[in-house]
Amino acid sequence: MNILITGGAGFIGSHVVRLFVNKYPSYRIVNLDKLTYAGNLANLRDIEDRPNYSFVRADIADIDAVRRVMADHDIDAIIHLAAESHVDRSIKDPFTFARTNVMGTLSLLQAARERWEASPTGYEGKLFYHISTDEVYGALPLTHPEGTPSPFTTAASSATHHQAYGTEFFTETTRYTPHSPYSASKASSDHFVRAYHDTYGLPVIVTNCSNNYGPYQFPEKLIPLFINNIRHGRPLPVYGRGDNVRDWLYVEDHARAIDLIFHRGTPAETYNIGGFNEWKNIDLIRVIIRTVDRLLGNPEGHSDRLITYVTDRKGHDMRYAIDSRKLQSELGWEPSLQFEEGIEKTVRWYLDNPEWLDSVTSGDYLRYYDEMYTRR
Ligand code: NAD
Ligand code: TYD
Repeated sequence: MNILITGGAGFIGSHVVRLFVNKYPSYRIVNLDKLTYAGNLANLRDIEDRPNYSFVRADIADIDAVRRVMADHDIDAIIHLAAESHVDRSIKDPFTFARTNVMGTLSLLQAARERWEASPTGYEGKLFYHISTDEVYGALPLTHPEGTPSPFTTAASSATHHQAYGTEFFTETTRYTPHSPYSASKASSDHFVRAYHDTYGLPVIVTNCSNNYGPYQFPEKLIPLFINNIRHGRPLPVYGRGDNVRDWLYVEDHARAIDLIFHRGTPAETYNIGGFNEWKNIDLIRVIIRTVDRLLGNPEGHSDRLITYVTDRKGHDMRYAIDSRKLQSELGWEPSLQFEEGIEKTVRWYLDNPEWLDSVTSGDYLRYYDEMYTRR
């Protein structure tokens, strides 16, 4: 099987590429990535010389380039992760998000349709697997601001803090209500994927995952940004009051879910992926501070002074919480890491790889943040 993975030089994509290249030596894995600020081939150094791996630098919105890659590598299946992925950037520059996330996904769908419809076996054995996010469902109300014991669990749920902050969860049938330009562009791309199934019969699967954390995440997202800032003694910008809630999953468990669904999922279905692991931002931030300080040998509480409340994100979604019971019950998925292990592993990885952090945080990086958020 020849598999095209888009966005394989990014955070989640690099974990998916590594898993497939290592686990399936008989598959040929083609990584197509534009290498934007978020794409980094250093994320794949350990597998780049494997005979079943190749890299193509291209833009998914360039349909001719995509057609060429589909033909040159005789692609049977696509796992589509390439996207602009950061909400704050989408607030500043929504057009780039529409171009890549909407037009780029449409180019891939059309190129796949043309190629597979013209093949002697048609759509048989073909799959377009689209990776999406829980953010398309909008925001859930915070009916329990102080938390209440969560009714659901997976192996990824925190051992010491297993709370839900409301009674509702996002299921596969929750109505789409995106609020940010990022989530609007992802929602639109999801609709195009389903439209290609309903109109042309393209075999598709869509999965919507909660917030990921782990190694190789660009330090503009909460967890790696805060680890890096603590390392440098820089302020930790907490948006609003820090009471927004996110549901966190270790990235390798997302990659394992993608592997399982790619092989055993039912075409035309949607699966939600999440670990029932909700955290209020400020509580998570305190866990990060405690873990970094401990691993750096600082006294407990040393970096608390870095917490800096800043203006809130525009349209900041209050709470995300994924109901992943369909994936658990139909395909038997269980995450491998509990939150406490995952966060320890993650902090250790960033502290052990300062050269990776330094190499991706040069140039315009700091100026960008100074412009975006001001201290209150
Ligand atoms: P990322 O920003 O780390 O990586 C995105 C990758 O896509 C980069 O390698 C970048 O170079 C590439 N890319 C961007 N524009 C491109 C274009 N026009 N053509 C080709 N390549 C392009 O993102 P991520 O966090 O790894 O997310 C990957 C996917 O998973 C996205 O579709 C995102 O919406 C989805 N997702 C992310 C999360 C999360 O918590 N990070 C959660 C759920 C779903
Ligand atoms: P982020 O990692 O950007 O993911 P998303 O917005 O896609 O959920 O942010 C996670 C949460 O942390 C979100 O509620 C916004 C908040 N946040 C901060 O408070 N400060 C920051 O510097 C960042 C990047 C995020």
